[in-house]
Amino acid sequence: MMSADTRQLNAMQKLPETGDDIWLFGYGSLIYKVDFPYLERRPAKIFNWQRRFWQGSHDHRGTPEAPGRVATLIETPGASCEGMAYRVSPSVFTQLDYREKNGYLRVNTELHFADNQVSTGLTYIATADNSAYLGPASEQDIAKHIARSKGASGENSEYLLQLAQSLRQLKIEDPHVFAIENWLTKLTTQHSTLST
Ligand code: BEZ
Repeated sequence: MMSADTRQLNAMQKLPETGDDIWLFGYGSLIYKVDFPYLERRPAKIFNWQRRFWQGSHDHRGTPEAPGRVATLIETPGASCEGMAYRVSPSVFTQLDYREKNGYLRVNTELHFADNQVSTGLTYIATADNSAYLGPASEQDIAKHIARSKGASGENSEYLLQLAQSLRQLKIEDPHVFAIENWLTKLTTQHSTLST
């Protein structure tokens, strides 16, 4: 099993020489938390992957004892995932390798833009062989899990709700994310009704 700290593995991967910018595909917190410089950003789609809340978070949205649930990409022939692509300088990856060190590896991917233009790029994925991986659960159970989790970056529910809100603004349909959001809203409404 791969360690949950992926910094060393990512550092071993070759990036283009400084000066050659690279497209980075974001499908999770990179959509709404942009704390790195970029040259350009464009909505983009990748094929044969889908966004799933199947990765455990030991750092940002949970702890090693009580991990949160965050997004990863699951290889799924025929599926697609829409997100935001950023054209960045290779140095940005050093910063992101640290920010996303909890199980995420950089992989090459083909990005499809709205005007049918295609570029190669990189994205971060957490595969089933990292020790923080949690795997599938029903959307209702994922919502329950998210509702009770928090970590150094804040409430796990904030991550899910911010992502859902950003996807809506971008007019991106994602039944998995929106189903979790619905369950989460029900849970929190029930909870606040019970406690008044
Ligand atoms: C993303 O938003 O694409 C992302 C963020 C953190 C880790 C992996 C991916």
